[in-house]
Amino acid sequence: MKQMKKPSIIMAGTLITIFALFISLNLSERLFADRQEDARLEKGPLPKDENEKKVLAILEDILENQSFRNVPLHDGRLLRIMTESMHAKNVVEIGTSTGYSGIWFGLALQQTGGKLTTYEIDPERAATAQENFKRAGMSKIITLVLGDAHEKVTELKEPIDILFLDADKSGYVDYLNKLMPLIRPGGLILAHNINPRMADPDYMKAITTNPKLETVVRGGMGITIKKH
Ligand SMILES: C[S@@+](CC[C@H](N)C(=O)[O-])C[C@H]1O[C@@H](n2cnc3c(N)ncnc32)[C@H](O)[C@@H]1O
Repeated sequence: MKQMKKPSIIMAGTLITIFALFISLNLSERLFADRQEDARLEKGPLPKDENEKKVLAILEDILENQSFRNVPLHDGRLLRIMTESMHAKNVVEIGTSTGYSGIWFGLALQQTGGKLTTYEIDPERAATAQENFKRAGMSKIITLVLGDAHEKVTELKEPIDILFLDADKSGYVDYLNKLMPLIRPGGLILAHNINPRMADPDYMKAITTNPKLETVVRGGMGITIKKH
């Protein structure tokens, strides 16, 4: 009898694994399809002047030749829109990679007179990003901090308008706890890769059960406001 049970347990385990895989693939496909649908309604980006033309060409070049887990174009544009529309002066980004999202922030900050502090743990990607900020003419408004952001962010002291989390997903709660006191009332906490497959349940709990915060998730981006 005991010997009969083993194959059926293995069979059940295999079926559960296949089912979980199917659900997870289905979810990511749906998410991707939703993003494609949204993007189909968009045009551009259309440069308004020579500076924007130059910067948009650099952004294209980064995606083509130096991409490393950068946000998609659609999300970069969203970051710029939010930053410029709320006249953000102080933006903090965790996870620079090769500087793609940083330059989208930079485009907005050139208009608002603000600055970005961005953190990267990998020296090679940090060097590439630094070079990209330079050729985009943004070295003065973007400070890249090389090292583990979990330690380095404790040096921040000024009020933050926008915090963008795009590094180690399991670290989002720690970043949130460390930086929440600095987020100004009305400030935003944006988190990338917030979808059913990748979101850290503890981070989701932290941003959805605190009455001082209001959160929506759209197209894989968690958008949280610290209420006034
Ligand atoms: C998804 S990529 C960031 C993409 C970037 N925001 C963009 O859109 O261009 C995540 C980056 O976070 C960095 N990272 C991971 N853990 C980190 C940590 N503890 N401190 C600083 N950077 C970290 C990784 O090395 C990686 O380059």
